[in-house]
Amino acid sequence: MSEKALSYLAQLPPDSMAIPRALREDGSLHATGSRDWTSGFYPGELWQLYEFSQDDKLATAAKAWTAFIEKEKSDTHTHDLGFKIFCSFGHGYRLTNDPHYKEVILDASRTLIRRFNKQVGCIRSWDFNTETWQFPVIIDNMMNLDMLFAATRLSGDSTYYKIAYQHALTTLKNHVRDDHSTYHVIDYDTLTGEVRHRHTHQGAAPESAWSRGQAWNIYGFAVAYRETEDERFLDQAKAAARFFYTHPNLPDDYIPYWDFDAPHIPNEPRDASAAAIASSGLLILYELDPQNREQYLKWADRTLLSLSSVDYQSDTPPFLLQHSVGSIPGAFEIDVPIIYADYYYVEALMKRRALVKSKKG
Ligand code: GLY
Repeated sequence: MSEKALSYLAQLPPDSMAIPRALREDGSLHATGSRDWTSGFYPGELWQLYEFSQDDKLATAAKAWTAFIEKEKSDTHTHDLGFKIFCSFGHGYRLTNDPHYKEVILDASRTLIRRFNKQVGCIRSWDFNTETWQFPVIIDNMMNLDMLFAATRLSGDSTYYKIAYQHALTTLKNHVRDDHSTYHVIDYDTLTGEVRHRHTHQGAAPESAWSRGQAWNIYGFAVAYRETEDERFLDQAKAAARFFYTHPNLPDDYIPYWDFDAPHIPNEPRDASAAAIASSGLLILYELDPQNREQYLKWADRTLLSLSSVDYQSDTPPFLLQHSVGSIPGAFEIDVPIIYADYYYVEALMKRRALVKSKKG
């Protein structure tokens, strides 16, 4: 990382509404407040870069940005509390053991489980579009379970674990297709618990394979297996990785188009964020599925090499990567740097480095 990038990252936050999210197409910074679903990624990236560098300036910056997000622990209107709180406070707690950080994680977990519906067996994702959806659940929501599993470890209260386990089982049953790719949005009937509709919100079509969703699929089920040891989750994570990395529409550099079924391939934007998330998921699978670990390592290394090439590196701090896609149907953040790509890229690099250090890979 360049000196220019490092000194930018060590800057203290100007204000709580200025958390980096993306670059706009005109090159200006799109910054957000803590309420945004992406708010935890920048502080989480800083914590990981501190872990890498042991540079106290980065720890000071990480603490300051993390503090801005604390109030989100009480927001009952979102399922994104894992992304916001666990990606920031989670790393902070891991690296400092600060008991206050643990309390914030537990508070946020208590808030998140209020969105669990027993009849459906899932945590509700979104509160908007109520004229169309009764109880929407998106594949992305698998990523919020990591915080709940941690909450049981930290508190000894199995409620969080049981809810996370049930959410993963219901998602396995209803989100996953025969080819092991996943739908984006499943809408449930809250009275019967039955599926009402299968939709997409960010993919090319309801039946298409939205690339970031397939990355959440690999990563989310790998974590669900790591935490529960339920082999059904491992089977799904393995199959999801195979779907992604052997797909005929995956380009040679392993950076997928924004949707595996986008209509104008090869003339479609790539999504570096999906690649970064998937590579980090592969490195979880590396630990869980020794029989196939060489294959996971090959796929992850090829992806990380591409992301680390001039083709994908950003020259605009604080962003590390370019060429991500927020939402093509929503017409925003198309082919720009986005903070969650950087977060998962750094996470994957840290895992890869740990393998080199332990001489495993
Ligand atoms: N969780 C929202 C997204 O992946 O765009």
